[in-house]
Amino acid sequence: MATKMHLVFLAFLSLIPPFMVAQADPGYSYGYGFGWGSGGGNDYSSLSPYFYDFSCPQANNIIASVLENAVAQDPRMAASLLRLHFHDCFVQGCDASILLDDSATFVSEKKAKPNLNSLRGFTVIDEIKARLEEACPETVSCADILALVARAASVLSGGPNWEVPLGRRDSKAANMLLANATIPPPILTAQKLIASFQQQGLDEVDLVALSGAHTIGVARCTSFKQRLYSQNGNNQQPDLSLEKAYLNELKSVCPSSGGDNNITPLDYASPKTFDNTYYKLILGGRGLLFTDQQLYSGNYANLAQLVKSYAEDEGLFFDQFAKSMVKMGKISPLLGSNGEVRKYCRRPN
Ligand code: HEM
Repeated sequence: MATKMHLVFLAFLSLIPPFMVAQADPGYSYGYGFGWGSGGGNDYSSLSPYFYDFSCPQANNIIASVLENAVAQDPRMAASLLRLHFHDCFVQGCDASILLDDSATFVSEKKAKPNLNSLRGFTVIDEIKARLEEACPETVSCADILALVARAASVLSGGPNWEVPLGRRDSKAANMLLANATIPPPILTAQKLIASFQQQGLDEVDLVALSGAHTIGVARCTSFKQRLYSQNGNNQQPDLSLEKAYLNELKSVCPSSGGDNNITPLDYASPKTFDNTYYKLILGGRGLLFTDQQLYSGNYANLAQLVKSYAEDEGLFFDQFAKSMVKMGKISPLLGSNGEVRKYCRRPN
């Protein structure tokens, strides 16, 4: 039965106040989600927030209600699901390749180094897809589910809302090697982070704003341990950009040997709330990952200034996060007759 909170959340997602909505794609058409040619409602040539308005109007409510239950059972799930969209889009575009299990012809991206023993939330996506297949068979793509889930995860955690351009189709294959090559590891310098995002058509503003997703969720010791004990290989020195008291706290969570899978929040001040404390912590040398701290301490004035601006003005961060999520969600989508709408997100049809 629907709870009061549940109804409030659903209403919040559907009544998006204009000031919180990122700029919609100027080229969108009113989509019907099924076979009308370019003379009809949808020419399939671009993404549109209205893509499922007629073919599956209940899609967003189904997603929101499954997500809300999942987060009630496991508060970290919002963070894990938000991350899935990023790890999908950075590998051959936002095509749900991240959701495919191993097959006879390809190895799953789930086995790539940044993903293995780290990505979570696949069963929540399975549940959403099953509910959507019941309500509107073979209509809502797994790639669009990831985009809608990411937005719902932000809203449910107290973060911004935005209109999600829709109409992506799903890939028929995954690429583990590409995932290893294009998902940025947490040891990159500012310079390499900028280059990694640039490869995807994302700029420095997108890099700093999207990194703000680390306002929720956790990381394993293995993702940042070198900072505590030996930042530069054998010199036995911690990362000097790490504030001392925070360094000692982290050492108590992550011993020098063992404990690699112990976890700690990316934003210890408010780990379950989507807010701008992530940037405030970075200003004080308390970014958890080397890459988080590089945004401020990596000798890039432009990045450091953005960190300061978002630390000072949460509204500015929310607005840019929403815009950058829309932009990331447009990386190389499969459109028209390319790809397919998978029936099960874990395997091609
Ligand atoms: C800028 C480059 C980025 C790097 C190097 C990076 C790296 C990482 C690492 C290493 C973890 C912890 C994984 C683990 O220890 O298991 C993590 C967690 C996370 N990342 Fe990123 N990330 C980046 C950008 C992003 C972006 C753009 C988003 C989303 C828009 C994002 C969302 C998240 C979330 C929400 C978590 C927590 C997940 C959970 O608790 O399950 N990250 N990231």
